[in-house]
Amino acid sequence: MTLRGKTILVTGAAGMLGRDLAPLLEDAGTRPLLTDNRTPGDAGPSISRLDITDQEAVKDIVQHERPDWIVNCAAYTNVDQAETDYQTAFQVNAFGPARLAAALRESGGKLLHISSDYVFGGGRQPDAASRNPWCEDSPLLPCGIYGHSKCFGDQLALGTLAPHAALIVRTSWLHGRYGPNFLDTMLRLAKEQKEIRVVDDQIGSPTWTRWLAETLIKLMQHDASGVYHAASRGDVSWFMYAGEIFRQAGLAAELKPWSSAELNRPAPRPPYSTLAVKKLERLLGTPCPDWKDDIRGHLEELGILKEKQ
Ligand SMILES: NC(=O)c1ccc[n+]([C@@H]2O[C@H](COP(=O)([O-])OP(=O)(O)OC[C@H]3O[C@@H](n4cnc5c(N)ncnc54)[C@H](OP(=O)(O)O)[C@@H]3O)[C@@H](O)[C@H]2O)c1
Repeated sequence: MTLRGKTILVTGAAGMLGRDLAPLLEDAGTRPLLTDNRTPGDAGPSISRLDITDQEAVKDIVQHERPDWIVNCAAYTNVDQAETDYQTAFQVNAFGPARLAAALRESGGKLLHISSDYVFGGGRQPDAASRNPWCEDSPLLPCGIYGHSKCFGDQLALGTLAPHAALIVRTSWLHGRYGPNFLDTMLRLAKEQKEIRVVDDQIGSPTWTRWLAETLIKLMQHDASGVYHAASRGDVSWFMYAGEIFRQAGLAAELKPWSSAELNRPAPRPPYSTLAVKKLERLLGTPCPDWKDDIRGHLEELGILKEKQ
């Protein structure tokens, strides 16, 4: 199904994923309406202000613009801060998508809501030990306040809209040119420190926002609904991920493995959060990229790729 001429409202358009998505929506011939809660000056001239915790503002823009889709990239993404600032985390991550869904139910549009691997991996889940990637219908056991808020958001969106009108896309470990993200941090630390310690006991799949943005467009073109996992193929620790970044960027940093207990962050992290992506691959008829190829694409985009295939 073509998206040409469709009105697509993007929330959180000034964020890492939103900024990669915006030009692709233009390329697909849509009428993108880019919004964020950052003030327009901060966010750039083409982004208008919309705070998804403001029910009236959400209702007004949906009634006025009648979008065919809302792509909700807005989120409270500070995982550690969410442990204490849980009211804001829930207002944005849980009730935000619910407000968008409620407004769309009246206007007849569809919601594409971005969710997270943190809906898995909280507590002691048997699959974490056996390392079976989480499927779309695996039992939910969210990790930390952030994970609970994202999980609740998914459920509220799905419960508010008719089944054909809600699309939840869970992804993981995002890196993109509009960071901040782990890849940027590693490149910076390689310049600042001789020895870099990175956690080796959390496993997941690094995913490039550029690929994810392209995938979101394809999902809308397929008029997809329900829950999909969209991530690169990979099953790596942050330590292995850092090693591959340094290798491809040609940086000689000394890496030391660390444990989550030693790092002692305020929020818990899923020990294993790799997402199964077969459902997406079946729908699109193409395999998801390998995580190393995604790093290559990102470093190439930054103009600092040293390792050639
Ligand atoms: N980053 C990851 O590793 C990762 C992994 C899995 C899933 N995800 C999910 O992927 C999506 C995109 O993540 P991202 O990394 O692009 O996040 P991001 O860079 O933090 O972007 C989120 C954007 O939403 C804005 N925002 C925050 N509160 C808002 C509100 N009340 N109303 C409107 N906009 C608001 C933020 O503005 P401020 O910065 O001014 O608050 C920011 O511009 C999110 O749903 C996230 O949960 C991310």
